Amino acid sequence: MSKEWTTTNIPYLSGKTIIVTGGNNGLGYESVKAFALKGAKVILACRNLEKGNKAKFDIAKENPAGEIRVMHLDLANLASVNEFAAAFKKEFKGLDVLLNNAGIMATPNFKTADGFEAQFGTNHLGHFALTGLLLEVLKATPGSRVVNVSSLAHKGGKVDFGDLMFANNRKFKPMRAYGQSKLANLLFTYELQRYFEVNNIGSIAVAAHPGGSNTRLAGHLEDGWFITQVSKIARGAMQSAAKGALPQIRASVDPDVKGGEYYGPAGMGELFGYPVLVKSSAASHNVDDAKRLWSVSEKLTGVSY
Ligand SMILES: NC(=O)c1ccc[n+]([C@@H]2O[C@H](COP(=O)([O-])OP(=O)(O)OC[C@H]3O[C@@H](n4cnc5c(N)ncnc54)[C@H](OP(=O)(O)O)[C@@H]3O)[C@@H](O)[C@H]2O)c1
Repeated sequence: MSKEWTTTNIPYLSGKTIIVTGGNNGLGYESVKAFALKGAKVILACRNLEKGNKAKFDIAKENPAGEIRVMHLDLANLASVNEFAAAFKKEFKGLDVLLNNAGIMATPNFKTADGFEAQFGTNHLGHFALTGLLLEVLKATPGSRVVNVSSLAHKGGKVDFGDLMFANNRKFKPMRAYGQSKLANLLFTYELQRYFEVNNIGSIAVAAHPGGSNTRLAGHLEDGWFITQVSKIARGAMQSAAKGALPQIRASVDPDVKGGEYYGPAGMGELFGYPVLVKSSAASHNVDDAKRLWSVSEKLTGVSY
């Protein structure tokens, strides 16, 4: 086996149940494919069933050993998150991996169905609520994992507790909102790991980031001819979605992964390369902020752990 961690390192996953949010496209699609090819039962959670079924159809052409179930989930709507979790728990008694992958980046300033700033609401609060609602099935599954997908952009992020939704004095900037949401993903991961440890729960929380990967994520940046051309060139230079998905795939299924770890690409600036352990910012390890974010998230979502 090569020294680099690739899909050949994925253990056989027969009997494992894995949820991938945003599994119809980009890194989520590649993750669903990798898990299904190795025999897992994968729940492809998506906000557009047509896109989800198309993704399932495309993966089926490769004769996966596992099974793919497409289920509706809109993380920008807490009612949908509740419905998804209830439907899942009705049918499944265990959950080996919850891969919180779905995300939006640099969108204009709009609100989720519950009135949250869209990127914070989708990328962090939606996944916070989903994880809390699935806690009983995670607890019931020995060795289960929650994997949150962050970004290099967390390094420039700031969680502003005085104005989380950019509704007061903070000037809204698309990447500022994205940075906040991706820092929140890490604060949540590390606090969840502490929660598992303090409560003697045998699950672990892990984070990953894909460096720069060629997906549709940057679509909102591509307004205007000039930005579209620059973006096309930048995307052409990025690693493929299949390679960019390796850190989150590794975080999800490598038996050697430990709680509280963070995986990203090994190459220069963590922009590309095979997945290795990486370090997140000092701000992401701020325990006071993590506890505060947890309590605010419980209040905002109405989901208590
Ligand atoms: N690509 C990169 O270079 C990069 C870098 C750093 C971090 N990331 C992170 O990687 C993750 C995956 O992104 P990607 O690059 O694969 O982007 P992508 O190709 O745009 O895929 C994002 C996925 O999230 C789904 N999604 C968005 N909003 C949703 C909602 N409200 N409810 C349910 N699903 C929703 C999308 O569904 P639709 O198809 O319906 O829109 C899509 O399936 C994100 O968390 C992103 O922040 C990516």
